[in-house]
Amino acid sequence: MNVAVIGSGTMGSGIAQVAATAGCAVKIYDNNQNALDKSAAGLEKTLTTLLEKGKIDAGARDAIWGNLSFVSALEELADADLVIEAIVENLDIKRKLFADLESIVSENTILASNTSSLSIASIAASVKKSERVIGIHFFNPAPLMQLVEVIPAVQTSSEVHTRTVQTIAGWKKTVAVAKDTPGFIVNRVARPFYGEALRIYEEGQADFATIDWAMKTFGGFRMGPFELMDFIGHDVNYVVTETVFTSFYFDPRYKPSFTQKRLLEAGFLGRKSGRGFYDYAKDLPAPDE
Ligand code: NAI
Repeated sequence: MNVAVIGSGTMGSGIAQVAATAGCAVKIYDNNQNALDKSAAGLEKTLTTLLEKGKIDAGARDAIWGNLSFVSALEELADADLVIEAIVENLDIKRKLFADLESIVSENTILASNTSSLSIASIAASVKKSERVIGIHFFNPAPLMQLVEVIPAVQTSSEVHTRTVQTIAGWKKTVAVAKDTPGFIVNRVARPFYGEALRIYEEGQADFATIDWAMKTFGGFRMGPFELMDFIGHDVNYVVTETVFTSFYFDPRYKPSFTQKRLLEAGFLGRKSGRGFYDYAKDLPAPDE
């Protein structure tokens, strides 16, 4: 199966690794050459680490690497059977990309979005043959997280739904079919986890490191809410909260946080920029110091 992944950031690179490991020929496209180069270097390093740790052998490493190619023109995705879009979480930009894609790929190609919170119906409405559009929502890091939400839109055909579930299950992931509602299942349930932690911090009840420590040490969570927001990226996490909030008609349960908005505006996106709530560069003070 020929797979195209659009957007070579955190999620696109991880999804490409999953598909290439399952034996698919994967083309990764990004409109930013630096991002594409970074993805190639990152994936090569990941495969080397897996080899060194004995998780894969040299043959598997070579096969997975051989399945990956990095392309800088959308037209090179013409032979894709399945396209998975993992670009910026912005409806207008995603809609424009899907409309452009439709004139390039075959009419049987499945067009999927990895959106965390946007309406699949709305993305599907940007193409003429909207029955081939579906949501395939991986979690971060895609190679490690077992769950994948598959989200058929109201326009999606049952054939595309079935083919997608079979494909993702064939990639050794566990599929949860979710309704096309804001945040689907996991991201909706997770909103209060971040939101309430941010409120406790903003009220001055505890600093963020203490909240993370309590949730990990006694709460049984692998990462605290602030570590997790830094890991996901505030650009992604804040926008998802904003989308869920507005999509649920401004339900105060999902109200976004100014603290997080200011981090985003400052470019403190979390791990990927070297600073978020925590300072990953170590030479700058963390925001509350
Ligand atoms: P990212 O910022 O790491 O990567 C996005 C990539 O898309 C960048 O390399 C950028 O250059 C590229 N891009 C932007 N516009 C483009 C366009 N028009 N054409 C081609 N490439 C374009 O973002 P990330 O975190 O990988 O998120 C991507 C998508 O996955 C978003 O929709 C996000 O909501 C979703 N998602 C993110 C998760 C996370 O934990 N970060 C988890 C699950 C879903």
